[in-house]
Amino acid sequence: MKKVRKAVLPVAGFGTRVLPATKSIPKEMLPAFDRPAIQYVVDEARAAGVEHFIFVTGRNKGAIEDYFDRAYELETTLKEKNKTALLEELDRLCLPPGAASFVRQQAPLGLGHAVLCARDLVGDEPFAVLLPDVLVHASPSCLAQMTAAYAEVGGNIVAVDEVPAERVSSYGVIAPKTAGDQGPLIEMSGMVEKPPRESAPSRLKITGRYILQPEIFGLLATQARGAGGEIQLTDAMQRLMGSQTFHAFRYAGRDYDCGDKLLYLEAFAALALAHPELGKDARAVLEAVLARKP
Ligand code: UTP
Repeated sequence: MKKVRKAVLPVAGFGTRVLPATKSIPKEMLPAFDRPAIQYVVDEARAAGVEHFIFVTGRNKGAIEDYFDRAYELETTLKEKNKTALLEELDRLCLPPGAASFVRQQAPLGLGHAVLCARDLVGDEPFAVLLPDVLVHASPSCLAQMTAAYAEVGGNIVAVDEVPAERVSSYGVIAPKTAGDQGPLIEMSGMVEKPPRESAPSRLKITGRYILQPEIFGLLATQARGAGGEIQLTDAMQRLMGSQTFHAFRYAGRDYDCGDKLLYLEAFAALALAHPELGKDARAVLEAVLARKP
């Protein structure tokens, strides 16, 4: 079985739900406490053994490319000021030479289309897709848990998380092959986008982490526009399910959606509280804010 070496990070969306913050800053560069959201996602994938990162970008996303590049002027200034700890941290966060590729999606035609733009860079091997506006706080990292599951069952894997019945209609939800399957790995028979509560096939929402086989690209290339007039990844996955296995994987951890204003606030606060050095002080700051009279 081929190892998952490459990850596709689609970052070409407009982030309209978090405007005006995203008018001139990519959504993925919004900070979640002390680092941009995209850094957590890259760290998650690196912890899973990913060696090559393919960013599917669009106009106004240059800040992402700059962020993963070296910043010589900054590094020289930090060196002159003997800020060794900061320099070491920046060095640790940098990607190795040649480990990042950037490909443009010329128009935001949908997530499926964004993934298709990475076709030549991925080639003929299994790959991961991580939606960078979803941050997963987990140890081992969510993708590391998924690659371990992938080593067991192969095929295609979709990370899922259980949500209360009243919220299923906001998400993509998986249909298990065997009803009532409770294990961490659940063979899937399908997926439904935003099902009504009464007819939802499960309460397992798709989280934004996938391990896919390269045959998905041939299907994406011929995929008709679906919901919202966009080329949907889920539609092509549904077609691939006819010839390959798909497992839903319940990871251990918690996800945060930075693509929505209030959920972004939750992500920011949760990651501040989880910070290894500053978490305790962050709690005191948040409690003081909440204790103030409106
Ligand atoms: P979203 O729909 O959450 O992102 O897509 P968006 O379009 O930026 O958000 P809103 O709805 O306007 O607020 C999930 C991920 O897929 C990427 C987005 O950048 C995001 O990371 N995406 C989506 C693309 O790269 N291209 C697309 O055509 C659509």
